[in-house]
Amino acid sequence: MEVHDSVAVVTGGASGLGAGVVRTLVGRGARAVILDLPASKGAETAAQVGDAVAFVPVDVTDPGGVEKAVVEARDVHGRMDVLVSCAGISSGQRVVGRDGVPKPLEHFRRHIEVNLIGLFDVIRHAASAMSANQPNAEGERGLIINIASIAGYEGQVGQSAYGSSKAGVIGLTLPLARDLAPWGIRVMTIAPGTMDTPMLANLDGDFITELVAGNIFPHRLGTPADVGALVAHFMENTFLNGEVVRLDAGLRLATR
Ligand SMILES: NC(=O)c1ccc[n+]([C@@H]2O[C@H](COP(=O)([O-])OP(=O)(O)OC[C@H]3O[C@@H](n4cnc5c(N)ncnc54)[C@H](O)[C@@H]3O)[C@@H](O)[C@H]2O)c1
Repeated sequence: MEVHDSVAVVTGGASGLGAGVVRTLVGRGARAVILDLPASKGAETAAQVGDAVAFVPVDVTDPGGVEKAVVEARDVHGRMDVLVSCAGISSGQRVVGRDGVPKPLEHFRRHIEVNLIGLFDVIRHAASAMSANQPNAEGERGLIINIASIAGYEGQVGQSAYGSSKAGVIGLTLPLARDLAPWGIRVMTIAPGTMDTPMLANLDGDFITELVAGNIFPHRLGTPADVGALVAHFMENTFLNGEVVRLDAGLRLATR
């Protein structure tokens, strides 16, 4: 699939990695639609990037809203070639407090709801929309790219909820690719390491320095442009399917 002239729908595209994906793809001649929360910076980001980008507000945990938003997103440019699912939340909570009392279940449920169920719900509607595309010369009708996390493999202390939600996204990749192959739709997942986005804003600076020191090389934070470049490569390299690619400078997360 060529990046130029394609149409990308990016959940979580208002901020961070999603906004980086939108910028990279539009910079290479694609058009895009940002799906993000009504209160997000979606409209602002779309206006900054330019006419090739529209914003459709949605909460991915609202099934009725997702169904409508995907149709609306498809109608903006008349088609949808690639879905990049970046919408996500992350916060830490241990399972049991120092007092031995179990922490509220809601924290775990919310991470699964947004990061896994919300992601899956957008995918099923997007895949349905892509199934109506005319296949290209290779029989390809679309591409679905998920953003997981290396915490899906090596979740740290306090990351039971986040790590489980991302492990779910990793586990979804292969069966989804198998399900959607008859339509010519590929599925790929990126598992980023420590990336420079607003999601890191609630982490302590020393902790971030320590995390980056754990990279094998290079010792820097990853950027939204790093993710954008990989998304563009997934689009162009049609032999990639059903796989999770770590984008982490070799980092392996420690216990804490
Ligand atoms: N920043 C990192 O170090 C890092 C590392 C690994 C994985 N990730 C993953 O990358 C993805 C993007 O995160 P980011 O770092 O760009 O963070 P971010 O907070 O900048 O962006 C997340 C976006 O998701 C949107 N969002 C949250 N809940 C939503 C909902 N219910 N419905 C619709 N949109 C919703 C937010 O409004 C926001 O625009 C997330 O899935 C995150 O887990 C981030």
